[in-house]
Amino acid sequence: MKNICVLVSGGGTNLQALIDAEKSGMIKNGKITCVISSKEGAYALERAINNGIATRVIPRKDYSDVAAYTKAITDALLEEKADLVVYAGFMIILDEQIIKAFPNKMMNVHPALIPSFCGKGFYGLHVHEAALEKGVKLTGATVHFVTEVCDGGPIILQKAVEVKNGDTPEILQRRVMEQAEWKILPQAVSLFCQDRITVKDGRAYVDL
Ligand code: GAR
Repeated sequence: MKNICVLVSGGGTNLQALIDAEKSGMIKNGKITCVISSKEGAYALERAINNGIATRVIPRKDYSDVAAYTKAITDALLEEKADLVVYAGFMIILDEQIIKAFPNKMMNVHPALIPSFCGKGFYGLHVHEAALEKGVKLTGATVHFVTEVCDGGPIILQKAVEVKNGDTPEILQRRVMEQAEWKILPQAVSLFCQDRITVKDGRAYVDL
């Protein structure tokens, strides 16, 4: 059974999707063992506590720079014996220390079809604002492995979602979550836990 540690910063709807998937038996060979938040008071922490999952809060503001913060998160994940680290609405970019400790063992859900609307500055609602500004007719979500390149690691799963006339960033965000993120993130986690994802030459191959 693989230990899944989830990194969060906010509301935690993706964490909830993972908890629900685990409860329904959809996540084969994996268990969420710890939730780590970069913010005190994040609602994601309540979701974890309500489901009997251990929590840790490691506030970004308590650390002087990214290197010190990355070390604190990395040490916590090593202590928790994480086999898989999931960035589920985790809003902080960590440095290469953590990539070296968990190579191809960390996945992130991003609310767009990478390589569109990704990289530094593209997070949360900003991603949907940018998609609406551009006038794309399809957007979606991507689950990918985390590497040194922000949002640039091997792509595991993607799902497209329609943009509709009159969408606001909030409406589009909700549709992308419901139709894409909450589906492909648990699916990718389950595939990982069953050793059905391999990475070769910078690309992920998934045994669906
Ligand atoms: C989600 O849409 C997630 O994809 C996005 O933030 C939201 C968090 O919601 N993540 C990023 O933009 C990371 N680059 P949640 O806390 O309810 O899961």
